[in-house]
Amino acid sequence: MTARSPVGIRPSGGLLGAEVTGIDASADLSSAMPALLEAFARHHLVVLRDQQLTDQQIYEFAQRFGPVEKHKNRDATGTVFGDVHSITNLGANGMPSLRPGVNENYYWHSDKAHEAVPCLLTMLYAVEIPPTGGDTEFADMESAYDALDPEMKARIENLCVEHSWGYMRETITGRAPTDEERVKSPPVVHPLVRVHPDTGRKSLYLGMYCRRIINSPDEDEGRSLLKQLTEHATQPRFIFTHKWQPHDLIFWDNRCLMHRAIANFDLSAHRRVLRRAVVRGKPEWVGRRSQ
Ligand code: SIN
Repeated sequence: MTARSPVGIRPSGGLLGAEVTGIDASADLSSAMPALLEAFARHHLVVLRDQQLTDQQIYEFAQRFGPVEKHKNRDATGTVFGDVHSITNLGANGMPSLRPGVNENYYWHSDKAHEAVPCLLTMLYAVEIPPTGGDTEFADMESAYDALDPEMKARIENLCVEHSWGYMRETITGRAPTDEERVKSPPVVHPLVRVHPDTGRKSLYLGMYCRRIINSPDEDEGRSLLKQLTEHATQPRFIFTHKWQPHDLIFWDNRCLMHRAIANFDLSAHRRVLRRAVVRGKPEWVGRRSQ
């Protein structure tokens, strides 16, 4: 089977997101890839329902978009994430937990923004979903940029931001990174305004790794600007909410979206288990300055 035919693209009707129908992600997809790539390019977030996938199949599907990322993070048991790994509220004992080992997914971010070369896309496959809630929200950072007034656009045009995994770790989990972690994950600098390599549209590059604006005359002023822009970009008018069904496979463009999980379920009672793979980006994608 190449795909469950016919292949169709159903836009969400909002700013971003589309469901692509007629796809079996484990099949030979040569004839369906153009539709998937088109949906990704136009809608930035693609939803495939009712998939039955092993980790190997998730890996192979992700590889259709580019090389799969390696990770440095560790799960609740202290094991470094594999190429396909869990995002879950389960603690080291395998039980639902209010304080799972990894909870930074509940804060606005763009995946791998703390790396010198941030990723292209992230893929999540729903294995276990709470009876209600456990949604994921996405912020359209291009529309958020477009809605800024001209004065603000001029003010932020050439600003650069330090993104730091260690800063995120300290501010969100309260755990200072070890010396070894600091060496493995040094801070990086990216432009505050990114340009999408395919569409040329500008977007705001923000999230939980942002430590400071490096070329702001005053550090506090820079921090309050980051806060102001984040509040602007995460208004409901820029948000799409994905409401999970078991066996959903979704993937999104980290070059123009921010995302976060929502704790709108009882984390101590219900299991939320997603399998995740991330596809690498290219160095020239983020370094490109606004024209
Ligand atoms: C992630 O941040 O990559 C996962 C988001 C989620 O848990 O919904």
